[in-house]
Amino acid sequence: MTSNSTAELDRLLSQALADISAAKDSSAVEQLRVGLLGRQGAVTGQLKLIGAQPPEERKTFGSAVNRVRDQLTEALSERASAVLVAEREAAIKAEQIDVTLPGRAGHSGSLHPVTKTLRRIEQIFTRAGFDIAHGPEIEDDFHNFEALNIPKNHPARAMHDTFYVSDETVLRTHTSPVQIRYLEKHTPPVAVIAPGRVYRCDSDVTHTPMFHQVEGLVVDSDVSFADLKGALVFFLEEFFEQDLPVRFRPSFFPFTEPSAEVDMGCVFCAGEGCRICGHTGWIEVLGCGMVHTEVFRQVGIDNETYTGYAFGLGIERLAMLRYGVDDLRLFFENEVSFLRQFS
Ligand code: FA5
Ligand code: MG
Repeated sequence: MTSNSTAELDRLLSQALADISAAKDSSAVEQLRVGLLGRQGAVTGQLKLIGAQPPEERKTFGSAVNRVRDQLTEALSERASAVLVAEREAAIKAEQIDVTLPGRAGHSGSLHPVTKTLRRIEQIFTRAGFDIAHGPEIEDDFHNFEALNIPKNHPARAMHDTFYVSDETVLRTHTSPVQIRYLEKHTPPVAVIAPGRVYRCDSDVTHTPMFHQVEGLVVDSDVSFADLKGALVFFLEEFFEQDLPVRFRPSFFPFTEPSAEVDMGCVFCAGEGCRICGHTGWIEVLGCGMVHTEVFRQVGIDNETYTGYAFGLGIERLAMLRYGVDDLRLFFENEVSFLRQFS
């Protein structure tokens, strides 16, 4: 073997080993393998030269080339596994999740303050033995007005700013028509409440065009105004859980006689008088009275035998006083930040 070819092999080996240990990733290692051991590779080229050596040097040269090939094969495979491990580690590191980051919170909805107030009202009355009834929101003239002793052209119709659907049908202006519907189907004794939406062409800090009322009706053989007053005072004490001033003020409704309206002391000015209570110190929450004999006549109830009381309370008015909401219209704007305060 000539010293020339040996030197050539040594140079090839040391250069290749240096390249292999410098290879940074799998594809660099693969490129070196092809360049050294592939069909056109440098080591393969040396193997091809074995036959061209003089016979006495052939064996020595041959085993030297084979050693180089074995050494490089091993170095390549070691380097390949080393870079693979490094590549996997880098990939895992890149995928790492920081479990200390704050989570993305899911928002849950909550009951509307009007719904909460309605449920509270229903709970108090059902505990006191009242049934719950419902009536249609699109109501006929007979149930909304006529049967309640409000004939056509009666001045009391002006108290209600009615939305007419047609000449004979309206969006009900109060829940009182449910009194009639209930008495058409039930005979006394009755004790019922009827919650629901009502509509009036009305809008300011204490009025909205759609609002909710709860009607109440009790008919029995010996019902008095004292019973009415007792029931309402009991209800208001249960509802507010605190001592708010209450006053019964004489009033007029065609379907009750005598009639009254109930005001609560204004919570916004403690009775001093402010924009919200119209500078009176009081906010009206309900209307009530003893069922008028004409109403009993309309539904065929004998008013010698029976007497009754009825009331109609405004749910939003009660909610605004309980929660301290100073504009009733806020209940229907559905600002999420407003509604969240009740969750
Ligand atoms: C009535 O609607 C009678 N039907 C109540 C009644 C029933 C009297 C049974 C006698 C017997 P009034 O129009 O006053 O009455 O309304 C009753 C309550 O509804 C008011 O006290 C108030 O709390 C509420 N209310 C009236 N108009 C509005 C409005 N536009 N927005 C919000 N609440 C209202
Ligand atoms: Mg009123």
